[in-house]
Amino acid sequence: MPTQLIDLIAPFRERLAAARRAGMRIGFVPTMGALHAGHARLVECARRECDFVVVSIFVNPLQFDRQADLERYPRALQDDVRRCTALGVDVVFAPAAGEMYPTPPSCVIEVGRVAAHLCGAHRPGHFRGVATVVLKLFHIVQPDRAYFGEKDAQQLAVVRHLVRDFNLPVHIQGVPTVREDDGLALSSRNGRLDAQERRLATSLYNALVEARRQIAEGATNPAAVRDAAAAVVPRDGRVRLEYLEIVDPEQLQPVERIDRRVLAAGALWVGSTRLIDNLLCDPK
Ligand code: PAF
Repeated sequence: MPTQLIDLIAPFRERLAAARRAGMRIGFVPTMGALHAGHARLVECARRECDFVVVSIFVNPLQFDRQADLERYPRALQDDVRRCTALGVDVVFAPAAGEMYPTPPSCVIEVGRVAAHLCGAHRPGHFRGVATVVLKLFHIVQPDRAYFGEKDAQQLAVVRHLVRDFNLPVHIQGVPTVREDDGLALSSRNGRLDAQERRLATSLYNALVEARRQIAEGATNPAAVRDAAAAVVPRDGRVRLEYLEIVDPEQLQPVERIDRRVLAAGALWVGSTRLIDNLLCDPK
């Protein structure tokens, strides 16, 4: 069956209600489109575990802290729908901004300390926008299970907190990051990199691997690990390490000493493209 493309909330809800009446378990993969193999992995998990799979494609203006980033965000709806058909997705929900936000929202979700560091500290309002749209989408779709990539570790943590705080009846499934052969995490933003930038982009992964190596060999001082990892990023005018932090994997708070499993997370600017990545690190 070809994937059905729906852009309005009312018919989308009717389609979902029919699936629910038929006793189907609904799996949901929220995306902003420009789908790649990382998204495909999310859909494959949903397909394995659910009877009816929904992908949303919505470039959510509320979560962009820079207008230029919103405007430049890649959009490829026809290709995305073709990809979804090949993956066996039942419905793609691709609303226009006016359908999701007919008026500017007067209620939004303020995210607490889980958003205080990492991307939350560098992208004001970003997680407010993410949490608000995810809550809206969960209310529209009412999925049994929802799938999020571990590359966006802070987003995944924010969504888990959202679900817990508001008793939302949905199981959140994190899915491991898909990487290129040289370690670069797949991202819709990778397509913006030119050949030289693409070569430099892998230094974020290399820095995180260095952090993981230091920790596995017994380093316990987060600042020292951070410095050693940052030194891996080449001195080149086209790259800038925005942050590299060592935090606890659930609350995403900086740790004072590394004596249990931690998350090394970083953001790297390559030219005008911002990339993020993270690795779980176990101490010696
Ligand atoms: O990860 C994304 O693509 C977005 O942040 C999400 C979860 C679809 C919310 O807009």
